[in-house]
Amino acid sequence: MLSAINYSLLATIFLVLTLIFPSEGQLSSTFYSSTCSNVSSIVRSAVQQALQSDSRIGASLSRLHFHDCFVNGCDASILLDQGGNITQSEKNAAPNVNSIRGFDVVDNIKSSLESSCPGVVSCADILALAAESSVSLSGGPSWNVLLGRRDGLTANQAGANSSIPSPFESLANVTSKFSAVGLDTTDLVALSGAHTFGRAQCQFFSQRLFNFSGTGSPDPTLNSTYLATLQQNCPQSGSGSTLNNLDPSTPDTFDNNYFTNLLINQGLLQTDQELFSSNGSSTISIVNNFANNQSAFFEAFVQSMINMGNISPLTGSQGEIRTDCKKLNGS
Ligand code: HEM
Ligand SMILES: *[C@@H]1O[C@H](CO)[C@@H](O)[C@H](O)[C@H]1NC(C)=O
Ligand SMILES: *[C@@H]1O[C@H](CO)[C@@H](O)[C@H](O)[C@H]1NC(C)=O
Ligand SMILES: *[C@@H]1O[C@H](CO)[C@@H](O)[C@H](O)[C@H]1NC(C)=O
Ligand SMILES: *[C@@H]1O[C@H](CO)[C@@H](O)[C@H](O)[C@H]1NC(C)=O
Ligand SMILES: *[C@@H]1O[C@H](CO)[C@@H](O)[C@H](O)[C@H]1NC(C)=O
Ligand SMILES: *[C@@H]1O[C@H](CO)[C@@H](O)[C@H](O)[C@H]1NC(C)=O
Ligand SMILES: *[C@@H]1O[C@H](CO)[C@@H](O)[C@H](O)[C@H]1NC(C)=O
Ligand SMILES: *[C@@H]1O[C@H](CO)[C@@H](O)[C@H](O)[C@H]1NC(C)=O
Repeated sequence: MLSAINYSLLATIFLVLTLIFPSEGQLSSTFYSSTCSNVSSIVRSAVQQALQSDSRIGASLSRLHFHDCFVNGCDASILLDQGGNITQSEKNAAPNVNSIRGFDVVDNIKSSLESSCPGVVSCADILALAAESSVSLSGGPSWNVLLGRRDGLTANQAGANSSIPSPFESLANVTSKFSAVGLDTTDLVALSGAHTFGRAQCQFFSQRLFNFSGTGSPDPTLNSTYLATLQQNCPQSGSGSTLNNLDPSTPDTFDNNYFTNLLINQGLLQTDQELFSSNGSSTISIVNNFANNQSAFFEAFVQSMINMGNISPLTGSQGEIRTDCKKLNGS
């Protein structure tokens, strides 16, 4: 009896202590509650304002968080400009150069936060919060973002070249790149659902349109009606940088139409359609589930965004809180 009471007392003390002093390495949704309690609404209103003049920016900001987390963990390494100690920026890596966008919005958010709570909120957490705001403001789910990441002191261009999946890769290779950062097949399918908004340049899928893998014909898993539209928008002699909606049905809305598109062979990138059209793949039933049940997709997407946001964060006294997201402090 006495020992039972002592146990519950100890458990309560332990719980209170872990709430006050979260253990190192552990992110928490209340990390800034006493130091910058308004952080989420400051980020959200900045994203909302950016969306007024750029309907694509929510997609671009979501992708920034993904490309940050896959290289050296979610440490804002992608935001560092080349110069000084940063000899090879991630911005100039193959998957990012002339493609990734949203840096100016991140800088605006950082300025607002430096006015409200100077030196407190990391650039890595800004990317995680901006991704959530972008999804929820576009019709997708909202969630409590785990916070407490710190900003890295290096960039890893070679890592960005090799770790971020390319749209020309096989499903097996993409799966292994997700697995390398601790994400499984459900995470791969759920997170690919982010291609329900935003744009892609012709150069990232035009290999499918005319002479796919040297066959002399288009990719057989591309819907013929959709193919005709894409061939018109991306002619063989045309510019590789022409933009197309990733989701032709609802281009700026975060919904499960990415998955219903895959069912009718209207995935834009080869790596999108492969999730459904690779015979015998375990991804097929997951695509079917998300296409038939938007709530199932939203629930899985939230969990997978949390999983992705947990990739190797710097915490405690590691790294720093940058004053300017583009530069290391003191540079
Ligand atoms: C599964 C492997 C993936 C591949 C191969 C891939 C590839 C690509 C490519 C080639 C583009 C077009 C870039 C351009 O035209 O400049 C793109 C756009 C985009 N990707 Fe992915 N992606 C993948 C996964 C993800 C994930 C996990 C997310 C987020 C959770 C994501 C979010 C986005 C968004 C929102 C856009 C549109 C960005 C914009 O309009 O600025 N992608 N992706
Ligand atoms: C929090 O931020 C929002 C949006 O920027 C603003 O409307 C609100 O007044 C702020 N609240 C506090 C307590 O600072
Ligand atoms: C990354 O890829 C780009 C473009 O292909 C290349 O120019 C650059 O040298 C590569 N960087 C590293 C560090 O391998
Ligand atoms: C898959 O990865 C292997 C090993 O890195 C590489 O040799 C191969 O070219 C890749 N295949 C595709 C289709 O991307
Ligand atoms: C398709 O590509 C292959 C390999 O590059 C080439 O040999 C063939 O001539 C091309 N076919 C057409 C119709 O362009
Ligand atoms: C191609 O897309 C149309 C809608 O545009 C759809 O009705 C048709 O079933 C699709 N075909 C295939 C093979 O998925
Ligand atoms: C998948 O199987 C179908 C039916 O057996 C076949 O027609 C198709 O070529 C296969 N697709 C791929 C990508 O191997
Ligand atoms: C859809 O998914 C949700 C969330 O996983 C689940 O609770 C619900 O039962 C599913 N609905 C149907 C019709 O299967
Ligand atoms: C740049 O690198 C040098 C040598 O490692 C180091 O002493 C210095 O602190 C670094 N500068 C910044 C701004 O991190």
